[in-house]
Amino acid sequence: MRLSVIGCGYLGAVHAATMASIGHDVIGIDVDSAKIESLGKGDTPFFEPGLEEILNEGLKSGRLRFSQDFADAADADVHFLAVGTPQQQGSDAADLRFVHAALDSLLPVLREGALVVGKSTVPVGTAEDLARRIEHTGATLVWNPEFLREGWAVQDTLAPDRIVVGVPQGAAGAEAADTLREVYRAASTPTTPFIVTDYATSELVKVAANAFLATKISFINAMAEIAEVTGADVSTLADALGHDTRIGRRFLGAGIGFGGGCLPKDIRALTARAEELGVGEAVAFLHEVDQINLRRRDRVVQLAEASLGGSVYQRRIAVLGAAFKPHSDDVRDSPGLDIAVRLHGLGADVIVTDPAATENARQRHPQLTYTTSLDDALRDAEIMILVTEWDEYRRELSPTHAASLMRGSYVIDGRNALDPVDWRGAGFEYQGMGRR
Ligand code: UDX
Repeated sequence: MRLSVIGCGYLGAVHAATMASIGHDVIGIDVDSAKIESLGKGDTPFFEPGLEEILNEGLKSGRLRFSQDFADAADADVHFLAVGTPQQQGSDAADLRFVHAALDSLLPVLREGALVVGKSTVPVGTAEDLARRIEHTGATLVWNPEFLREGWAVQDTLAPDRIVVGVPQGAAGAEAADTLREVYRAASTPTTPFIVTDYATSELVKVAANAFLATKISFINAMAEIAEVTGADVSTLADALGHDTRIGRRFLGAGIGFGGGCLPKDIRALTARAEELGVGEAVAFLHEVDQINLRRRDRVVQLAEASLGGSVYQRRIAVLGAAFKPHSDDVRDSPGLDIAVRLHGLGADVIVTDPAATENARQRHPQLTYTTSLDDALRDAEIMILVTEWDEYRRELSPTHAASLMRGSYVIDGRNALDPVDWRGAGFEYQGMGRR
């Protein structure tokens, strides 16, 4: 099928390349010339395992192209909207400017019978507005939220755990759902749940999923706060809870909490939208989820201060990690990087290392010192703080090697990813998050 993908950021670039990899003829459109040029040459603007391979395969096969010109999307049967919906400046609500701008540019080339498929995460009610905007063209609007995780984006797009499609009522809606079944045929199995619903439900599925995941993380981090004053161990608690199949162990990883381009902004946008709709009370608890999450960062700063006798001023601190999670170079709302910035603000001599994200981190926070060498980061450090659980730190770093480089012997494990017995055995004072 002929597809266009409008917006070639994280979501769009992955979607365009994976759709080409399953045999579609895809044109990726973006207003950013640098992005289009780099993708057209087969260079991925961000780190995502497996993406570069399928991007290059697609370009070589001729099934994947990139352009800045919306006229190049005119032939497509299906147009995917994959632009960003960041948090608005000075507000918790989502900024829909890019969605509307993309539609403005698409409208002049939109054919009767074409399908416009929204993939961006939007406040409930947006699809209905957009459907009204394209009504006169004879094209149909569908909402098809994306659930991909960074670091697993290609795999999640090629083998999604569910496909959700919000369609208008009537024959046009049924036909649109069938078209999407066809689009995703090679990226699903006969048992992949394919849920056809209305616009509002499909929009809510995405934000509700992210709000639930955020709540699960903050729940265990709230338990970590209690564990810290009672001597309980939150990791054992999470294991014990996780054996209850109704609860499950995943997303009960206590630590410095969630970050990234989705969870933080999505819980805020859902709260803002619910307030607009007069049902703010229904999700007032998400404010608490946000606060618990942010408090974990304070805790690390306090631990660092306490370990150095009350002040971090001019003390050497190695921060291991900058990305908001491993297998990613994304530093958007990274809890670990925020901790590094705060320690720097308190006068600490902070050095940050990360296998993939130092360049992105440097662009956002040039005031910090960065290195890609773990040894250089650890050399002469008084405290080591692990904030992103890369295998390089979790599995490959031996406590005796760290001890041979560091000046001090204090380890703060912001992800509960290290073995306290090993680190204590090597002479370190180990401090986890809610962990004995
Ligand atoms: C998330 C959703 O998982 C995905 O379905 C959606 O499409 C986009 O948002 P992503 O932002 O890639 O994906 O990250 P995710 O793996 O969900 O992790 C989010 C944050 O939570 C990370 O900072 C991670 O470190 C943190 N986290 C995760 C925890 O603190 N504890 C956990 O147990 C799990």
